[in-house]
Amino acid sequence: MSVHAEQSALSVPQLARARAEGRKLVMLTCYDASFARVLDAAGVDLILIGDSLGMVVQGHDSTLPVQVEDVAYHTAAVARGARRAIKIADFPFGSDATPEQAHAAAVRFVQAGAAMVKLEGAGHKLETIRFLVEREIPVCAHLGLTPQSVLRMGGFKVQGREQSAADQLRASALAVAEAGASLLVLEGVPATLAAEITAASAIPTIGIGAGAGCDGQVLVLHDLLGIDTGHRKPKFVKDFLAEGGSITGAISSYVDAVRSGAFPDATHSYS
Ligand code: KIV
Repeated sequence: MSVHAEQSALSVPQLARARAEGRKLVMLTCYDASFARVLDAAGVDLILIGDSLGMVVQGHDSTLPVQVEDVAYHTAAVARGARRAIKIADFPFGSDATPEQAHAAAVRFVQAGAAMVKLEGAGHKLETIRFLVEREIPVCAHLGLTPQSVLRMGGFKVQGREQSAADQLRASALAVAEAGASLLVLEGVPATLAAEITAASAIPTIGIGAGAGCDGQVLVLHDLLGIDTGHRKPKFVKDFLAEGGSITGAISSYVDAVRSGAFPDATHSYS
């Protein structure tokens, strides 16, 4: 039985079960009700209302200008379109600076229809993860190339290539799971490092530019559909519309490719 085969709404505990049974998790970003319906029908397990909306919907150069109101608005729209998939709302820049601020935003997201919230980084965010989980709000962590760190990183750059950075990433991955996160997104990380982290992780990992060794994959919807958003497409992006022939076909091709392990291949991964 696949996660997809169950028609009722997926729940957070089913993610660990899928991993234990070796079933790949399929995640995509989405920002509105109509696309959410299409993703749900195609069997996407997790829908991320990502702060990427700042770049692909609002036309900004980074995710930094996104507001809590924006994510709450788009989460409510997605929740009206998708019944089965788990909806994950992304904390915008600054909204998770303290556990209390994060909790106030997370309550809005859950009330808009999210079943989980996502935050970038470890360090002081570990306290926030614990704070939210203790208050019954499931958390997805996000490590590696964290787009909200663009000012410090000096651009959107692959992370974990040097030994010390790889060691730091391994430690952070263990720490977010220890703090209570249920899921971990690894972005822009060499494939071998992401596979090592996945093997050592107590929680499922979802890769984006992190190779095929993760427990699942995520892409930004606009990238999967080959839409020109005005931003450079990273190496890991694949235009599934070219092979799928239609929007529904493209999303189904992506779902099948992630489930079978065909995506990402070496040409869509970093070494
Ligand atoms: O905001 C987003 O879409 C994300 C994904 C790229 C993982 O964080």
